Amino acid sequence: MRLIIYTGKGGVGKTSTSAATAYKLSELGYRTLLMSTDSAHSLGDSLDMELPTTVTNVKENLDVLEVDIIHEMKFRWSEIQDYISAFMLSQGMGEISAEEMAILPGMEMIAALFYVNQFNKDDRYDVIVMDTAPTGETLRLMSFPDITNWYLEKGFNTLKRIMNLARATVGKLMDMPLPSNEVLESINEIKRNMEQVKEILEDPKKTTVRLVLNPERMVIKETMRAYTYLSLYNKNVDMLVVNRVIPESAGESHFFTEKLKEQEGYMEMIHNSFDPMEIKMCGMMSTELRGHDKLVAMADAIYGDQDPTMLYASSSPMSFVTEGGIDYLNLKMPFVDGGAVELFRINSNTLMIHVGSQKCNIQLPDSLIGADIIGADFKDSKLIVKFKRE
Ligand SMILES: Nc1ncnc2c1ncn2[C@@H]1O[C@H](COP(=O)(O)OP(=O)(O)O)[C@@H](O)[C@H]1O
Ligand SMILES: [Mg+2]
Repeated sequence: MRLIIYTGKGGVGKTSTSAATAYKLSELGYRTLLMSTDSAHSLGDSLDMELPTTVTNVKENLDVLEVDIIHEMKFRWSEIQDYISAFMLSQGMGEISAEEMAILPGMEMIAALFYVNQFNKDDRYDVIVMDTAPTGETLRLMSFPDITNWYLEKGFNTLKRIMNLARATVGKLMDMPLPSNEVLESINEIKRNMEQVKEILEDPKKTTVRLVLNPERMVIKETMRAYTYLSLYNKNVDMLVVNRVIPESAGESHFFTEKLKEQEGYMEMIHNSFDPMEIKMCGMMSTELRGHDKLVAMADAIYGDQDPTMLYASSSPMSFVTEGGIDYLNLKMPFVDGGAVELFRINSNTLMIHVGSQKCNIQLPDSLIGADIIGADFKDSKLIVKFKRE
């Protein structure tokens, strides 16, 4: 299974590009799922059809799923919701509804990623195209497997402690409801799921992230930041889609001449910043991009005769190599000033890297557990950490 994730700033054309790609893939004969994790639910608009909250077949080889978190909470995670509700009641707080649970941060993302994991296991699709919410939200999705494990670990341990406490005080007044075995098993299941999701997302041959942008200064800057963080989270970014490019033939008027000159500057900025990454372009279309025919035209503009499942880059931003008795961790960190990187060793097998407000935990391979860090270097947009084994 291939997973293609489109992300980028709001309004740049993620949903259109995702839908366009999905149409093209289905027409190439791939069993395709187009899914959206954006709570704004705009896939239906783009495809020009009403979409329910479950997987829907829209044409041969093409299913669509707009993840609706309230639906997920009600129908897929009801045991956990029941437990949390009981817990809230026991604490003198009101019951919590599926609607309230749904606003807890990150729920949409967990739900979407679980679908991906399930479909991967079932071998139900050849390709999943994921349309996402604007960048900030999606970066959280990308860092999610790590964060969730930490979060669940804590939650799980707390539950276990409560259980033990409950056993020790049987017969006394106990307000706390005991989580049932089903709830504990559900939590375990979430952990297992997240581990598997991480494996899919960080396999550079399975998952690639494609950044959609417009030739505008602020958008380019945000795209650069997104690229940095995605590399930090070890996600293979293999393409830029520059959308809404004004065609040279736009017009003779003074307005367009100025606009085109400005655009040329931005295109140069994009190339200078991102080369040698694959850069695709799509022109500004004169009509609203809605429905099959216009989306297929968009896909043709972007991909031409190429197969969108192609890997335009195939290596992971993070790698470990051994040379002359020294182990090196290499981590690609585009657009980062080395001085802004902080490195911490949390325990014998975990490194934590801070860049700006983002942090990520790196699990060291077994061979490096307990190895000494003997130096760190930053050059050519790459962080290099050196280890010496005991
Ligand atoms: N190349 C393009 N030419 C003309 N209109 C476009 C183009 N790309 C996107 N649009 C329009 O811009 C609006 C936002 O696009 P959308 O794909 O929903 O962006 P996003 O999902 O990034 O918010 C939509 O109305 C869409 O039809
Ligand atoms: Mg969108």
